[in-house]
Amino acid sequence: MPTAEPVTLEQFIADLDALQQQASDAFAAATDAEQLDKARVEFLGAKKGKLKLIQKSMGAVPNEGKRDAGQKLNAVKQAIQQGFDSANERLGAGGGGDAKRDKTFDSTLPGKRFRIGKLHPITQTINELKDIMGRLGFTPADGPEIEDDWHNFEALNIPKVHPARDPLDNFYLSVASKTGANDSVPELNVDSPLLMRSQTSTVQIRVMENRQPPVRIVSLGRVYRPDTADWSHYPMFHQIEGLMVDQKVTLADLKTVIKLFATSYLGNDVPVRIRPSFFPFTEPSVEADYYWDGKWVEFGGAGMVDPNVLRHVGYDPDKVSGFAFGLGIERLCMIRHQITDIRYLFTNDVRFLRQF
Ligand code: DAH
Repeated sequence: MPTAEPVTLEQFIADLDALQQQASDAFAAATDAEQLDKARVEFLGAKKGKLKLIQKSMGAVPNEGKRDAGQKLNAVKQAIQQGFDSANERLGAGGGGDAKRDKTFDSTLPGKRFRIGKLHPITQTINELKDIMGRLGFTPADGPEIEDDWHNFEALNIPKVHPARDPLDNFYLSVASKTGANDSVPELNVDSPLLMRSQTSTVQIRVMENRQPPVRIVSLGRVYRPDTADWSHYPMFHQIEGLMVDQKVTLADLKTVIKLFATSYLGNDVPVRIRPSFFPFTEPSVEADYYWDGKWVEFGGAGMVDPNVLRHVGYDPDKVSGFAFGLGIERLCMIRHQITDIRYLFTNDVRFLRQF
């Protein structure tokens, strides 16, 4: 390092005094934020500011004067900073002492709101229904959305010739043919097709296959059917499925649970009725309705689990009995929120979704 010319303490102090004066004059002369900022850089700039330059020359002050030199330097530094601060305030920038502050900033305007995310209305409904069923003693259970023939149809007593298996009513998946004739062309395996499940009743089978009675489960999830979308149809929707199997479970138990479930969600005074119906997996089968806005609205299907279904999962229909019910979740969500078209739910328009 080149040795600097020695600087006397007196000289150093005089330089600092002169600098303080210059800075004070420059700050006083500034008539707008831009000029003031120029002056700030000139005197207080972190790299090439004049104060910084003088500070560097302190190394050339003889040792015995260093202490006084340091003290003087600090005092001048403070004085210059204060000079800048008051000029800054005089020019109206105020606050943090930043002369570059945006002059268009209006501190009286309200701040920007944080957008807080929300659960989708269907998810909210699912959570509520799960809660209601939980209070009735039903534990949540899950199953896959891609199902096989056994769980979606066969075990549910839906025979091979049943119209519910129609390819026009189901999303069958093309999977590589097991024959190996041409592996590169996916084909539908007609004997054992895979499909997007068309109902959550599949979960009944999956649960019963793996557990012995008593069983009391509820399953909520997506199902898929190739329906043309309109105000009340969508190719994907959600169902809730309940299942209870134990000794001596009766239709009266089913009625009680349906009634409690419906009134918990829709309100204590909502009338609920049950009428005969048919489903392959229940015998007898019923359909439940509730009275809403002057008319009966379909709630869902239900019934006593068909003995064939119990046998398919290895239960003994002479020893245990059960009931099951299944219904669409979208309609319940739409009724609650007065949503008039199911498609709104799946368009992902935040202006719509934010309301719930
Ligand atoms: N799985 C039927 C459907 O998708 C609904 C249903 C009806 C479920 C009767 C049940 C039941 O558990 O017992 O239309």
